[in-house]
Amino acid sequence: MTQTEDIAIRPLSPVLGVEVVGADASRLDNATFERLRDAFHRSCVLVVRDQSLTPPQQVAFSRRFGELEHHISPLYQMKDEPDVMILSNEVVDGKLVGNPDAGSDWHSDQAYTDEPCAYTILQSVRVPKAGGDTAFTNMVTAYETLSDSMKARLDGLIGIHNFSRLKNPRMKPLDRLDTSYYEKYSPPDALHPLVRTHPHTGRKALYLSPRSTIGIRDMDDSQAQPLLDELFDHIDDPALVYTHKWREGDLLMWDNRSVNHIALGGVKLPDVRRIHRTTVVGERPF
Ligand SMILES: [Fe+2]
Repeated sequence: MTQTEDIAIRPLSPVLGVEVVGADASRLDNATFERLRDAFHRSCVLVVRDQSLTPPQQVAFSRRFGELEHHISPLYQMKDEPDVMILSNEVVDGKLVGNPDAGSDWHSDQAYTDEPCAYTILQSVRVPKAGGDTAFTNMVTAYETLSDSMKARLDGLIGIHNFSRLKNPRMKPLDRLDTSYYEKYSPPDALHPLVRTHPHTGRKALYLSPRSTIGIRDMDDSQAQPLLDELFDHIDDPALVYTHKWREGDLLMWDNRSVNHIALGGVKLPDVRRIHRTTVVGERPF
C-alpha cells in the first residue's frame, strides 16, 4: 500500500488546486486517502500525477468518495463499464467514441438536477499535442470577494437551472445534436440557492453558471438577468481561475460544490484526446 510519508502534496496555483506526486491511486491506504481528501476539499481540485487506472480501478477509486451516478444521457457510456463516460474527439467507423465537446461553457456538473454530483473524476488516457486544457474558477473565493451589499442581496435567492440550451438565452444549440435531444433528456427546472454551503468544510460558495442558470425564482427577468450577468462577470475574473494543462497520467478530480469548470477545446484530428469520467453522487444544495 502507498504510505502517507511517501507522497508529496503541492499547490498547483495560488488560487486553487493541489498536485500529488508519488501516490498510487489504485492502492491508497486509508490514512493517505483521508489526507488527500482533506487537501482536496480545501483546494477544490486534486491532480494525482502518473496514474493509469483501468476503468474498473477508476470505478473502485471513485467509490471511496461515495456512490457513483451516471450522466442523464447514456450516449457516451462505456459499454462494459457503464459507470464510466468517455470524453473524446476520436472517430471510429464513422462514429464518435465519446462526447467530443462536453463542458464547453462554464458550469458545475449536473447542476440542472435536484441532487447534483459532488465530485467529477477524470483519468487522462490520451493527451493531445495541442489544446484540451480545462479551466477552473474558485467559487468559494468568488463568494468571499463579493461586496457586503451583494452578499446581503444574494442571501436567500434561489437560482433556476436547466440542462436545455434551448431554454437558455446565453447558449446556442450544438450543431451535432437535434433539438429532440434536449426534449428527451432535460429534467424539469432544478432550484438551488445562489449561495451554497459545503457539507464538509462549512464554507460558502457561489453556485451558478452561464451554462445552466437561466433565472432567479420570484424575480422578474428585467432584474434577474442583469444580476446574473454581473455575477457571471465576477466569476470570470482571471484572479479566480486556474487553467490545467494535462500531462500523460493525470488523474484529476474537482469538487462541483466549490468550482465551476470549462473545457477549452481546440483539439483537432488526427490529434486525439481521450478521458474517462466518473461522477460521485452529491446532496441537495443548501
Ligand atoms: Fe463538466
